[in-house]
Amino acid sequence: MISEKLQRARDFEARYGAYIPDGERPAFHVTGTVGWINDPNGFSCYQGEYHLFYQYHPYSNNWGPMHWGHVKTRDFIRWERLPAAMAPDTDADRDGCFSGSAIELADGRQMLVYTGVYETRRADGQVESFQQQCVAFGDGVNYEKYPGNPVLDGSDLPAGGSVLDFRDPKVWQDPDGTFYMVAGNRTPDGSGAIRLFESPDGTHWSYACTLDSSRNEYGRMWECPDFFPLDGQQVMLVSPQEMTAAGLEFHAGFGSIALMGRYDPAARRFARQRIQSIDYGTDFYAPQTLQSYDGRRIMIAWMQNWATTNCQPQGTRWFGQMTLPRELSLREGRLIQNPVRELENYRGHKVSYQDLLVTGETNLSGVSGRLMDLTVTVRPVDDRPSYQAFKIHLAKDGQRETLIRYKVANSTLRLDRTHSGFPYDIVNVRDFPVRPRDGAVKIRVVMDRYSLEVFVNDGEQAASMVIYTPLSAQSVSFEVVEGAAYIDVEHYSLNFGQEDAE
Ligand code: FRU
Repeated sequence: MISEKLQRARDFEARYGAYIPDGERPAFHVTGTVGWINDPNGFSCYQGEYHLFYQYHPYSNNWGPMHWGHVKTRDFIRWERLPAAMAPDTDADRDGCFSGSAIELADGRQMLVYTGVYETRRADGQVESFQQQCVAFGDGVNYEKYPGNPVLDGSDLPAGGSVLDFRDPKVWQDPDGTFYMVAGNRTPDGSGAIRLFESPDGTHWSYACTLDSSRNEYGRMWECPDFFPLDGQQVMLVSPQEMTAAGLEFHAGFGSIALMGRYDPAARRFARQRIQSIDYGTDFYAPQTLQSYDGRRIMIAWMQNWATTNCQPQGTRWFGQMTLPRELSLREGRLIQNPVRELENYRGHKVSYQDLLVTGETNLSGVSGRLMDLTVTVRPVDDRPSYQAFKIHLAKDGQRETLIRYKVANSTLRLDRTHSGFPYDIVNVRDFPVRPRDGAVKIRVVMDRYSLEVFVNDGEQAASMVIYTPLSAQSVSFEVVEGAAYIDVEHYSLNFGQEDAE
């Protein structure tokens, strides 16, 4: 049965989604049908396709009572819009359907597992917002919420676990049929803890253990956990609130980190060995992964930062976009990310330059646009430091540009969107260290109209950045500062059909 609230959301998106011309959105990054989106939810395989849901408030460009929006894809690049999947319309989730995940069941149904929120007013007038885990079952378009919701609430938590911060379940199933779920929770000292729960059937759940906790060291509350094996190790992804900056590794505020280590499922013990930032740009939060039909671990995230959501361009009917799905692997103990290989199917005209000696600033014939897959390798002349900095100017016109700068002296890469169409100043610059190989640095930039995602040295670092520069700014130039360097350039325009030809 479709509730009145869900029908209203579906009618609204059917009516107003069409008012946003495709050319005014990213071409291959997921946006909501209309209005606001945040976290990716339920990124999962279902009946031969990949489904993605998202935190959704269709009625405005701001966060509001959370619905789940819905899209699906076969190749992670071209997405088909589906009607909104859930609205906050039952007792267990009346004030919001918060983040969660999805799984295909043996009987062919799809199960959504999410956080139901309900608010109550205390005797002193304060509103408290309780969080509990709920499930819904459906066919890939329509979902019925389980009448026994919530399937987990505060009474299932170990002593001291917060009933107000208990959210974002990520579910998986072991080959023996047992379901597992990780969820974020807060302990009495205010810090985050990742709880593991198990269930024989998806509706009866019990607490198993606490896998890891922030101990107020890596941020405080940990949101949106994920937990999966990768290349012989175990990886936990979490999105900490209130991170403290640590050099160039973590920046202050909302971050996303990968904890890598060993997991002993029998003893239910996760021993973390290393921690790193997942993305070094300005806009990346709440990542979630799936294992693709061909065995790849693929991650998608909200390409946005909570701290800057009020800074929106005028006149748009959408806000918030996802990152490009990225293939994950481990190399030399680091999390490696590269764009899904399917992106290559959309490459159009290729332009390449080899061993180009550059001094000062130069444009290259055939290299421009706002839909591109560009790889540039820069290296010194004669194997010795021969220049101070190298810059790629993107989305450029007479007044605006977005800058990527490699600085030789301290081997840092900078993303700078100071002149990239924002109505007022927010965090515009991010620096992070990279590792040159024999003095060379390889920079891949995937640009989709209103964002760039940078992958350094075949995925050793990723950095994402949203921009709002008008689409008329299409120029790209390359600049070597104080000296000379060789560059190799490979540029592909990206094509998504007639309407996207640029
Ligand atoms: C993370 C988050 C989640 C929550 C959702 C609400 O961005 O705060 O913890 O479920 O957003 O929209």
